[in-house]
Amino acid sequence: MDIQEKYTASEERYDNAENLYARCGRSGVLLPRVSLGFWHNFGGVDPYERSRAITHYAFDHGITHFDLANNYGPPYGSAETTFGRLMDDDFRPYRDELFISTKAGYDMWPGPYGDHGSRKYLIASLDQSLRRMHLDYVDLFYSHRYDPDTPIEETLQAMVDIVRAGKALYLGISNWPLQPLKKAVKYLQEQHAPLLIYQGRLNMLHRKPIEEGILEFCREQGIGFIAYSPLAQGLLTDRYLEGIPADSRMAKDHFLHPYSRTPKLLDYLRELQAKGETRQHTIAQEALAWILEQEGVTSVLVGASSVAQLADNLSVVSRA
Ligand SMILES: NC(=O)c1ccc[n+]([C@@H]2O[C@H](COP(=O)([O-])OP(=O)(O)OC[C@H]3O[C@@H](n4cnc5c(N)ncnc54)[C@H](OP(=O)(O)O)[C@@H]3O)[C@@H](O)[C@H]2O)c1
Repeated sequence: MDIQEKYTASEERYDNAENLYARCGRSGVLLPRVSLGFWHNFGGVDPYERSRAITHYAFDHGITHFDLANNYGPPYGSAETTFGRLMDDDFRPYRDELFISTKAGYDMWPGPYGDHGSRKYLIASLDQSLRRMHLDYVDLFYSHRYDPDTPIEETLQAMVDIVRAGKALYLGISNWPLQPLKKAVKYLQEQHAPLLIYQGRLNMLHRKPIEEGILEFCREQGIGFIAYSPLAQGLLTDRYLEGIPADSRMAKDHFLHPYSRTPKLLDYLRELQAKGETRQHTIAQEALAWILEQEGVTSVLVGASSVAQLADNLSVVSRA
């Protein structure tokens, strides 16, 4: 699409609503069962027009939830900057149809106030995120990780105050262990800013949220659960069956190391492929369907480096 061409969202974007949306815990919020993450493929190093095409496809097919964090890029902050540009170019008229999240908790800027869980860091970080994203508020703000060195009340009260200040509508927690999560749920309930959702890594190769009882706890408490890296960063797809493509995350990025492409994994993938064939599922669809079948999972938060990948992933909700 020419960069000057005005984007108009597809009129059919909610036609699959019956299959696409799920209630987030016991809240009033419906989220798409397939949401789009901006960790990779939306940074300053990525072609803007490709990022743009992926978001158009997403929104045109009812994916209303985009997930960001302060340090997504690279460089840090640049995925939010890309999002801000997308808002200006395309999505401003649709702001109220979008559910946008961001996070703070990992390293973002140098010095003692750009990392972890202090009030100072969380509030300054969200202010920066809003400026980069050209938004007045986000729909959802997450603590990105638990910081055992900051009093839990300091982190949580900063989050409550963010909601009170109108900078976020809802709160989320990501990567916290079960015990502090339990404390957080109680604290936030008492402050009338209840936890909306937990974001955890869950896929067929990494089942800790199930094994550690986090998914069960969320389900019991009426808190939504969104599974990140549902395709294990691409391992649970056909991407690496025949080798390591030059344009893949494994070839380009230190987050996915070639040592994870083991003979055992390849055997597992071939089994998954054979199983998928009987249901006319790709490997990716098999992997996503497995997560979506777990009771209490609201959404899978996929990444995609092309429209074709996103289309493959999204079709799991119409073909599960
Ligand atoms: N809270 C946290 O701590 C945390 C941590 C990690 C991620 N997240 C969130 O979760 C989102 C998703 O994470 P992720 O990118 O690791 O997710 P993922 O869906 O497991 O992996 C995405 C990668 O898999 C490949 N892929 C996706 N669909 C494919 C398909 N149909 N066929 C073949 N290959 C396919 C692509 O790799 P190529 O690039 O090689 O094409 C793509 O970049 C992030 O953007 C972020 O929002 C949160």
